Amino acid sequence: MAQLISIVNMKGGVGKSTSTMMLAETLAAQHQKRVLVIDFDPQTNVSLMLAGYERWLEAQENERTIDFYFEWEGSGWRPGTFPDFVLRDVSDVDKARTVDLVAAAPELRYTERDLIAALVTRGFFLDAIEKRIRERLLKVGIQTLRDRYDYILVDCPPGISMAAEASIMASDFVIVPTIPDVVSRMGLAAFTRRALANMQASVVSQQMAQRLLILASKVEEGNSLHEESLETLQQDARDGKWRCLETVIHQTRDIGFAAQRLEAEDGTRAFHRKYGVGAATASALADEILAITRTPERAL
Ligand SMILES: Nc1ncnc2c1ncn2[C@@H]1O[C@H](COP(=O)(O)OP(=O)(O)O)[C@@H](O)[C@H]1O
Ligand SMILES: [Mg+2]
Repeated sequence: MAQLISIVNMKGGVGKSTSTMMLAETLAAQHQKRVLVIDFDPQTNVSLMLAGYERWLEAQENERTIDFYFEWEGSGWRPGTFPDFVLRDVSDVDKARTVDLVAAAPELRYTERDLIAALVTRGFFLDAIEKRIRERLLKVGIQTLRDRYDYILVDCPPGISMAAEASIMASDFVIVPTIPDVVSRMGLAAFTRRALANMQASVVSQQMAQRLLILASKVEEGNSLHEESLETLQQDARDGKWRCLETVIHQTRDIGFAAQRLEAEDGTRAFHRKYGVGAATASALADEILAITRTPERAL
């Protein structure tokens, strides 16, 4: 049964998609885990990072990007099921052959809104719409895939969408990549409270704050502002606000470049070649997530 992990932050550009890709490929390449990445962001970044443009375009032309699932839900005409959207074996890392993807498309921006509009027209109230999206997307959609994977990672758009809230609600863990600076810390507490409230609705018995994992990302070496802000985030963790992952992702050229997938005709590359100096960080992140998700009770 897959652990469901949402990667969220109300801010863009903090490393959500990069962390999602890194974690997915490392869990697959170094731990032989079966990983499904679901892209809920109309910016489509993790889809392109993992599958590359050609494969993504083919999926879109074949109506196999997730916006079509929303379209089906809006129209009530469903020519298939959620698993039909899974693109198999997308990674360009040679040992990461067990990474699958449900890709997003820019149209998702409109299809989610259109779905809401369609349900309003059919007489649904807002709370009923939320419930329906949750049920269709999660119970009928994602849940049907939980047996097939060890990890399902959901890359959420910045801010909050109904799909993202539904995903947070069903998640076992939520990773919040955060650049440790003053601006990024603004609003973080309010955002995480909201995320916690969402999670609480579904998993009541757990110490929820321990399931909220702050991941310091794009940390600049030798930047004293980053060091001080990181210390503040860690102090907040000691105060029980959230959990701070020990792994810190530094800003490096190699991790930035890893976003560029090899062209399909160029085949695959070794994990260390892709992540360069970031490879050790990627391994540490996967190890930490494995440890936390393997023994959540003991790790609390
Ligand atoms: N650790 C890092 N080092 C260097 N560049 C990074 C790192 N993490 C992310 N980036 C770059 O920063 C930008 C934003 O990252 P991304 O993962 O797309 O953020 P988000 O998904 O939160 O919007 C991208 O151009 C990405 O390649
Ligand atoms: Mg992103």
